[in-house]
Amino acid sequence: MRIIVTGGSGKLGRTVVATLRNEGHEVVNLDQHGERGTLVRVDLTDYGQVIDAVAGVDDQHDGADAIVHLAAVPAPGLMSDVATFRNNMLATFNVFQAAKRLGITRIVTASSETVLGLPFDVPPPYIPVDEEYPARPESTYSLVKHLEETMAIELVRWNPELSVTALRFSNVMDPDDYAAFPDFDADATLRKWNLWGYIDARDGAQAVSRALAAARPGFDRFIIAAADTVMSRPNAELVAEVFPGVEVRGDLGTNETLLSIDKARRLLGFEPVHSWRDQVGADAAGGPRPA
Ligand SMILES: NC(=O)c1ccc[n+]([C@@H]2O[C@H](COP(=O)([O-])OP(=O)(O)OC[C@H]3O[C@@H](n4cnc5c(N)ncnc54)[C@H](O)[C@@H]3O)[C@@H](O)[C@H]2O)c1
Repeated sequence: MRIIVTGGSGKLGRTVVATLRNEGHEVVNLDQHGERGTLVRVDLTDYGQVIDAVAGVDDQHDGADAIVHLAAVPAPGLMSDVATFRNNMLATFNVFQAAKRLGITRIVTASSETVLGLPFDVPPPYIPVDEEYPARPESTYSLVKHLEETMAIELVRWNPELSVTALRFSNVMDPDDYAAFPDFDADATLRKWNLWGYIDARDGAQAVSRALAAARPGFDRFIIAAADTVMSRPNAELVAEVFPGVEVRGDLGTNETLLSIDKARRLLGFEPVHSWRDQVGADAAGGPRPA
């Protein structure tokens, strides 16, 4: 396929672009930052630029089969709330609108684990969390992710051929980030804000690739996280200490993810293959990675 990736210069985007190219796709990166030669410089808040660059760019491409929309201010607190809202909401509307005008019906878009209720100052309804309870955004950043998912639900109702897959990524990590992981164990509250989850960027890219391949008309949302937590301490102990009284559903396993990826496994064929435990060694991680 010829695939437009927005935000392809970013932390997740770089790996997504490389992965899709390795798989044989033709990839065009639309981003406002990045090294010359690796992107078409576009401000996605400017609809004129968006529709033009998605339709074609001289010397680059003359139309796309699919869009992977990753560009965003990627967290709360990086810009003012109003700037985060404006950038992310407008960029996403512009990308979705350009796809509509140009007849592109395959979209994979970056949502976020934050819609699950991060930082869980209000405890989750049950653990492991999944996609089955209504969104609980607790920041403007997360509110926009929720509004984007909601917008997609309406757009697929307007166009029965349209496929929008929202991937609710956990905290994205590169291999260099893993050296810090063994220290998390000392304080169970340090990473409680996302239920001790993470996603290796390479597995995030795998999820994008699988979502593109599995795209069916309609909207769907998937939590995308690593198969394990950032902790060596066992799940039962962490949950009892930090979230006493929260309903525990099923067997938590020792270090298995508490952000359920069962739906992504089942419907996308997603299976994380990277763990921080492989990177820092089983000794520092307190034992072998869970199966
Ligand atoms: N990093 C995480 O832990 C995490 C977790 C969950 C979801 N996400 C989501 O995944 C996506 C990618 O995140 P990331 O960590 O790679 O972020 P990043 O900041 O590294 O990359 C985002 C890219 O988007 C580009 N961008 C932002 N606004 C733009 C605009 N108006 N026009 C053109 N380009 C624009 C930036 O230049 C940047 O290169 C985002 O949608 C983010 O919200 C990230």
